[in-house]
Amino acid sequence: MPHPNEAFLPGLFEFLRIPSISTLPEHQPDIRRAAEFVLAELTAAGLSARIIEGEGHPLVYGEWLGAPGKPTLLLYGHYDVQPVDPVDEWISPPFEPTVRNDNVYCRGAVDDKGQTYILLKAVAVTMQRHGRLPVNVRVLIEGEEECGGGHISRYVPAHAAELKADAALICDTEMFAPELPTICTGLRGIVYGEIHVTGARTDLHSGIYGGAAPNPLQAMAEIICAIKDRDGRIQIPGFYDPVAPPSEAERAAWARLPFDEAQYAQHELGAPELVGEPGIPVLERLWARPTFEVHGIRGGFTGEGAKTVIPARAVAKVSCRTVKNQVLETVERQLAEAVKAACPRGVTAEYRHIHSGDGALVDTRHPCVQAAARALTECFGQETVYVRGGGSIPIVAMFEKHLGIPSVMMGFGLPDDNLHAPNEKFHLPNFYRGIDAVIRYFEMLGE
Ligand code: BES
Ligand code: MN
Ligand code: MN
Repeated sequence: MPHPNEAFLPGLFEFLRIPSISTLPEHQPDIRRAAEFVLAELTAAGLSARIIEGEGHPLVYGEWLGAPGKPTLLLYGHYDVQPVDPVDEWISPPFEPTVRNDNVYCRGAVDDKGQTYILLKAVAVTMQRHGRLPVNVRVLIEGEEECGGGHISRYVPAHAAELKADAALICDTEMFAPELPTICTGLRGIVYGEIHVTGARTDLHSGIYGGAAPNPLQAMAEIICAIKDRDGRIQIPGFYDPVAPPSEAERAAWARLPFDEAQYAQHELGAPELVGEPGIPVLERLWARPTFEVHGIRGGFTGEGAKTVIPARAVAKVSCRTVKNQVLETVERQLAEAVKAACPRGVTAEYRHIHSGDGALVDTRHPCVQAAARALTECFGQETVYVRGGGSIPIVAMFEKHLGIPSVMMGFGLPDDNLHAPNEKFHLPNFYRGIDAVIRYFEMLGE
């Protein structure tokens, strides 16, 4: 029997076809189209909605406040997506939603257009069924989540009073395992920037000058290795000092999750073995420890064939994930100082900051979190588990700080959904159940 929510697939596919890549300037028109798509959906659902212009990509806001005395939820999602490269590795074109084995493959399928669409449809269905909602809702959808853009982070503090709500509801995280309803109770923060290394005035013949000329790529490798050692420990003095460990209760709960390290390495990562700080359990390394990662290194000759050159420059994109009690500005400064300190002879090196965002932890005892766990348990027929996520959603900390509200992170992604990677997908049964779960959550909060 087809699921009734299959009726929403054409709309989902229309949304997915818009290549709303926020970090690439040439996709500006697509960003606008995606914002307008969300606006039209909110209006059609019966909300009063508008586009909020400002520096950066447009925000879309909608509200329905016809349930006085009932709780108010602030629904958040993002309509922007990550770039699609390496494009050759996609089995079907990245912006042509294609169904294979009950999954829809498309950039943004799960992160976060598909999950944003769950929120929009849950509102629309409830409005259509009853002509009203059991709770009040505000909806705030942004288009810069994936590029660290600042529009929403300027908007929220400036309009805190107008955004008054009891909790935020976000569908932008993952389930711990298929069929296992999951609430995400914590996210890591992020500090993102570039390391620039400069050597000679210009590229040099590596035979004529090799042995005397400094090599910025070699220097870059040395700087990176100085920042993080072979065990995955960050060597920046004082870096770990503020890091707060998870509570004993969390540690115990994580140890009870269905998790097999070998299975994870082999099937989820497809890597020969796991790495990271020795003596710390994997889930703790992913969720409660900071990291330093290199995302890309530019410099020298990378084309086909061979060219004997000593490059004049090298650039690396790097980031640190941060955890509770680490201060973003401190980490930025620590990175900048570490780059300077590790810079070898013959070159200059500097850290250039791009963006940062705080992590967050959510108190699971909050009634809006408890109701969400009950709604999920009912819809999935299994006890809801609490996990943290290693990724970042910077607005969560801002909702906490400026609105004083927790974020209920009810995610419907699966561990093999390929977020940010080729062949991103969304498991359609989770799309259908997601809509049902959010509808049930509205009902339970309204009771
Ligand atoms: N939805 C993800 C974050 C996420 C995924 C959290 C899975 C927990 C579990 C989000 O879209 C994302 O990718 N965020 C970026 C933030 C950054 C660019 C500021 C990230 O984490 O890299
Ligand atoms: Mn996301
Ligand atoms: Mn993302």
